[in-house]
Amino acid sequence: MILFVNACVRKESRTLRLARRLLDTLEGEIKEVRLEEVRFPVVTEEFITRREALKNAKKYDDPMFDLGRDFAVADLIVIAAPYYDLSFPAMLKQYFEQINVLGLTFNYSETGVPSGLCRAKTLYYVTTSGGPIVSDEPGFGYVKALANSFYGIMDVRQIKVEGLDIIGADVEAILEAGAEIIDKEVPPHLLEMESILQRATDTLNTLEKSASELKSMQEDIRRLADYYDSEKWRRDFEADEQGLYPKNLRRGVLSEDGIYNLLERNKETLEVLK
Ligand SMILES: Cc1cc2nc3c(=O)[nH]c(=O)nc-3n(C[C@H](O)[C@H](O)[C@H](O)COP(=O)(O)O)c2cc1C
Repeated sequence: MILFVNACVRKESRTLRLARRLLDTLEGEIKEVRLEEVRFPVVTEEFITRREALKNAKKYDDPMFDLGRDFAVADLIVIAAPYYDLSFPAMLKQYFEQINVLGLTFNYSETGVPSGLCRAKTLYYVTTSGGPIVSDEPGFGYVKALANSFYGIMDVRQIKVEGLDIIGADVEAILEAGAEIIDKEVPPHLLEMESILQRATDTLNTLEKSASELKSMQEDIRRLADYYDSEKWRRDFEADEQGLYPKNLRRGVLSEDGIYNLLERNKETLEVLK
């Protein structure tokens, strides 16, 4: 499911136009949440206390968490937000306040580092501005920081179009340039498939190297097995029992099942590698 978080308000919204263009290029069922239609509760102490209680009781099916649940399970997220007051409309911040729920969209490790619980690998942030976007930081930068460090979404992309309200601006030409940027976007699935190919190749390379090392060790392992079967091993074992060998000696070979377990694992692994 593609989650479309729509923070646009105007009927003729240019941000929405660009976002729709982007959505047209993406494959999958789209679920839209129009922030204008959401009645966001104010985050008061009472609200926080109630949310803590629900969280502690693991009642994540409460309607309070509907927005967060959708966000967590979405395969891809598109946020459309016009550039307001150097960032985005306040309702988008209200939206984040609702979806940032411990145990639902993110977790904290024991050392206090947040780790993501969201399925999406990619998040698009679409924005348009009247003048120049003075700095990406308060708008896109904030969303990217949340996506990277809270939700665990690492591929965060901005599609932005600036200067639409500057007197004399050719709005259609600027929007068309924005649409061309969208058409040239590398599809997220391509990056994901490439990453799977690379990881699988690295894993197989490591496995093949280890498999070849294990095969070349078989002569030594056979010697270990012969030793384990021999009178020599029994004598060493008894001598060790009597405390004749140094205390700090590494003595895996004299342990109860050390060699036996290794030989069994070796046999099973060779079977798998056949
Ligand atoms: C409340 C409000 C705040 C805005 N703040 C800025 C701003 O800080 N800088 C800027 O360049 N444009 C600003 N604009 C202009 C919008 O960013 C611009 O018109 C944008 O394209 C609107 O998007 P829309 O067509 O999707 O509604 C603001 C517009 C509104 C209504």
